[in-house]
Amino acid sequence: MSTLPGSPFFHYQDGQLFVESVPLHSLAQAYGTPLFVYSKAALGSALDAYLAGVQGRQVSIHYAVKANSNLAILRYFAQRGCGFDIVSGGELLRALAAGADAARIVFSGVGKTQDEMRLALQKGVGCFNVESLAELHTLNAVAQSLGVQAPVSLRVNPDVDAQTHPYISTGLKSNKFGIAHDQALAAYRLAASLPGIAVKGIDCHIGSQITTGAPYLDALDRLLDLVTAVEAEGIALSHIDCGGGLGIQYQDEQPPRAGDLWAQILTRADARGFGQRHFMAEPGRSLVGNAGVCVTEVLYLKPGEERHFCIVDAAMNDLPRPALYEAYHAIAPLSQTPAAGVQGQVYDVVGPVCESGDWLGRERHLHVRQGDWLAVCSAGAYCMSMASNYNSRPRAAEVLVDGERHELIRARETFADLVQAEAGQGSFSTNQ
Ligand code: LLP
Repeated sequence: MSTLPGSPFFHYQDGQLFVESVPLHSLAQAYGTPLFVYSKAALGSALDAYLAGVQGRQVSIHYAVKANSNLAILRYFAQRGCGFDIVSGGELLRALAAGADAARIVFSGVGKTQDEMRLALQKGVGCFNVESLAELHTLNAVAQSLGVQAPVSLRVNPDVDAQTHPYISTGLKSNKFGIAHDQALAAYRLAASLPGIAVKGIDCHIGSQITTGAPYLDALDRLLDLVTAVEAEGIALSHIDCGGGLGIQYQDEQPPRAGDLWAQILTRADARGFGQRHFMAEPGRSLVGNAGVCVTEVLYLKPGEERHFCIVDAAMNDLPRPALYEAYHAIAPLSQTPAAGVQGQVYDVVGPVCESGDWLGRERHLHVRQGDWLAVCSAGAYCMSMASNYNSRPRAAEVLVDGERHELIRARETFADLVQAEAGQGSFSTNQ
C-alpha cells in the first residue's frame, strides 16, 4: 500500500506515512495522540471533483456541516465559495462564525425548534428544508411573528432504496425523514397558502455512504415528476436540491466520482427538460471523509486465547462509527518498517473504553509493538463531529496540514474543559 484508501494525499515515502509533505510521526510527537490530522489539499481535491462535474451549470454546493464542523474546515469551504447545509442553531452559528453567507445556507432536519427557526430567520438563511406539515405551520407562525416570510423547500421522501446501512438510509417510507411523495402536492398547496411561507424549491436526501448513481437518478425522476405537478398548479420552484450522500472508499468500495455522478444527474435533468434549473448538492462525507486520519498510539499488546488485542489510545468516543454501524476503517502503521524481531499478528484493535463495543478494527494483520503509532484511515467525516467525552475522556486535538505547514485547529481538551459547566455542588443531597 503506497497511499491510504481513497486519498493520494496520505502516502508512504521511504516507509514512513506522510500527509502531504509532513511525516505523520512528527505530528504525533509534536501534538500527542489521539490526533486527527486533515489534509487541505485533499479537501480541495474533493471539492474540485464536484466542481469538475458541474462546470458551466447552475449547481451550488452546500457543505453538510455535520460531517466535520471544525471552524477551520468550514472557513476553507466558505472561502472556496461553498454554501452550507445545517441541522441546528449550533451549526448555523458555526457556519456564520466561519464566514458563511447566510443566504447560501439551507436548514435541514426533522426537529427544528422555534428558537432555531427564529435565529435562522433573523440571520437570513437562504432556505428551510421543511420535513412535515406540523413544522410548516410552526415556521409560518414564527415567521409571521417576526413580520417576515420564511423561504421554504419541502423535503420529499421519494421512497427509493439507497442500498446503504439501515441507520444511514433516509429516503424510504419507513424512515422518519421528509414528506411522503404522495402527500407532497397537497403540502405544497398548503405552503403556498400560508402568509409566512415563501415557496422556493424542492429537496430530498436519500441516505449516506451511497456507492452507486442509480438511487440518485431514481430519486431525481420522482422529484421532477413532482416539480411538474406542483408547477402545473401555478407554484413556481426555483431550485432542486438533490441532498448529499455520496459514499467514499473505506476499503474496496468504488463509488462514482462526484463529477461523474453530477454529470449523470445533469444529463437526466437535461433529458427531461429541467437542465436549466438551479440545482443544489449537500455533500458531507465525500468532501472530508478521506481528507483525515486519526493517529493513535499502541498502549498494550494483549495476547488472548481466541483473539489477540492491540489496545490503542483512541477509542469509541473518538471514532464511534465501528461501534455504531460496524463500520470498517482501514488501520495503517505510521512506519512500514517494523522494529527488528516484531512478528506480524492478527489483532482486534480496541480502545480503553470499558465496553466490548469499543473496537476500531477487527482481525487486522499488523506488525506492531507497544509505543508504535497507527493511523485510523478515512476519519475526516463523522468521527470528530460525533466524538463524545464518554469515560471522561477529553476529545482529541485536530491539526490541518497544508504542504509543509501544519496548524493546530482544535486544542486537545483538558480536565478543566470537561468539568467547566458543572458548577452545581449538589449540596442539597447531603442535608437529608
Ligand atoms: N443533507 C442531509 C439532509 C443529511 O441528513 C445529510 C447526512 C447530508 C446532507 C450529508 O450526507 P453525506 O454527504 O455526508 O452522506 N453518521 C453517519 C452518517 C449520517 C448522515 C446523516 N445525514 C455515518 O457516520 O456514517
